[in-house]
Amino acid sequence: MSSRILILDYGSQFTQLIARRVREARVYSEVHPPTRSLEWIRDWKPTGIILSGGPNSVYEDGAPTADPALLDIAPILGVCYGMQLVAYISGGKVINAGRREYGRSQLEIEEPAGLFEGFQPGEEMTVWMSHGDHVDVPPPGYVVTASSKSVPIAAMRHRDKPIHCVQFHPEVAHTPRGGELIANFLFGVCHAEPTWTPGAFVDAEIQKVKELVGSRRVICGLSGGVDSSVAAALVHRAIGDQLTCVFVDNGLLRLHEREQVERTFRANLGVKLVTVDASKRFLDALAGIEEPEEKRRVIGHTFIDVFEEATSGAGQDADFLVQGTLYPDVIESYSPRGGPSVTIKTHHNVGGLKPDMKFKLIEPLRELFKDEVRNVGRELGLPEEMVGRHPFPGPGLGIRVLGAVSEPALDVLRRADAIYLEEIREANLYNEIWQAFAVLLPVRSVGVMGDFRTYENVVALRAVTSTDGMTADWYPFPYEVLGRISNRIINEVRGVNRVVYDVSTKPPATIEWE
Ligand code: XMP
Repeated sequence: MSSRILILDYGSQFTQLIARRVREARVYSEVHPPTRSLEWIRDWKPTGIILSGGPNSVYEDGAPTADPALLDIAPILGVCYGMQLVAYISGGKVINAGRREYGRSQLEIEEPAGLFEGFQPGEEMTVWMSHGDHVDVPPPGYVVTASSKSVPIAAMRHRDKPIHCVQFHPEVAHTPRGGELIANFLFGVCHAEPTWTPGAFVDAEIQKVKELVGSRRVICGLSGGVDSSVAAALVHRAIGDQLTCVFVDNGLLRLHEREQVERTFRANLGVKLVTVDASKRFLDALAGIEEPEEKRRVIGHTFIDVFEEATSGAGQDADFLVQGTLYPDVIESYSPRGGPSVTIKTHHNVGGLKPDMKFKLIEPLRELFKDEVRNVGRELGLPEEMVGRHPFPGPGLGIRVLGAVSEPALDVLRRADAIYLEEIREANLYNEIWQAFAVLLPVRSVGVMGDFRTYENVVALRAVTSTDGMTADWYPFPYEVLGRISNRIINEVRGVNRVVYDVSTKPPATIEWE
């Protein structure tokens, strides 16, 4: 059997990042709640076990804990709360320093072996700390392997057993050499095999889908975005013509978007695709609506109606619905205080279908991050122009025409947006940017063109860098690129006489304007 790492989730916001780092090292892992029984864990046969961080203090009433026998099932890596827990259940002392330490810290490596294999004695390493408590006295049998100014016992290991602990977070990007530590744990300590590639992921998911679906039928709502495209391509690889994709043209798409989706799926991949042209229905429903939440509601409801009508024709006998939900869409984790908690950003789900819908869901990407989904898409042979696409919101240009949405306004925005993206690609910057788009503002301003005074629309340009869309920075375009984009939009798009660039970060601004 291939190597598998069990990650016990004590509630840290970074737990899924641990899983991600393990996948990056090409080892299979699963995240489970710490309430799994010893018996369950033994049956699971972990090659190694990682205890995540968490918000509690080990001494708190009801704090999640672990049976000391856990530490003998497989090699252990305790991270932050995981380290404190190992110390606590093994007879060490954990204390509260009276204040939280949050941020970068310098670590001094005392023992360049085990997790720190490949480092030099006394070498310094930048790490990310986020904790209130820390280990004050290591349990019997443990030695200190690294220290920092604020935490003398910043890492420790058992003298004879394969148990390693760190007070900091090796899984976050702010611990630049954290990946090496995790690799040392996986390969040096657990002797895991690096066999979990995007190809292995695809094979395993295909197998799962085949077993689940049997000879039944499946439907998938394609949005043209990366997530639903990759999910559809994967399921298609598994069950071929048992899958029918439905693409709703809501009239709020970007220039040539519909043709691109049809070409990729129908012509290149041979997927059964039904396109429903519902533009008029969406635009009629949106007529006169200015308030963004109301627009979203109307777009969402219209989508559900159109999709259900389409599937009662095209996928009449389908039992399953494929959704391209990703991990950041589903923040589902064990919550030590209140039991399992599930928060779903409904607006990210394909239309947020009705709760009483008859379909069972297939969500093959629900544990992955966006860039991992892109790699899976590449593995499936999807064209780069599709897997590398910037995210695009479900309500589309409907929330990028501010104020009332109309066909002429959409047309102006579509053309400005196409020029913007074309120039970004031309300057070779598309892949450096998380998301770039134009917004049509509901204001007009005065300009001059030739001998005439103009009174026309303002287009705002937005481009951000981000890793997950939760926080974002504005992208520092070279001035000449901005200049070229602005000139072209003003000269080529009738109805626009002014272009502005948005230099707001998220938070406090959001990525979309709405
Ligand atoms: P905000 O504007 O909240 O956006 O900073 C964060 C990310 O989510 C996308 N977004 C949406 N995606 N349906 C979607 O599928 C929506 O209603 C929606 N609203 C925002 C946004 O484009 C950005 O990538």
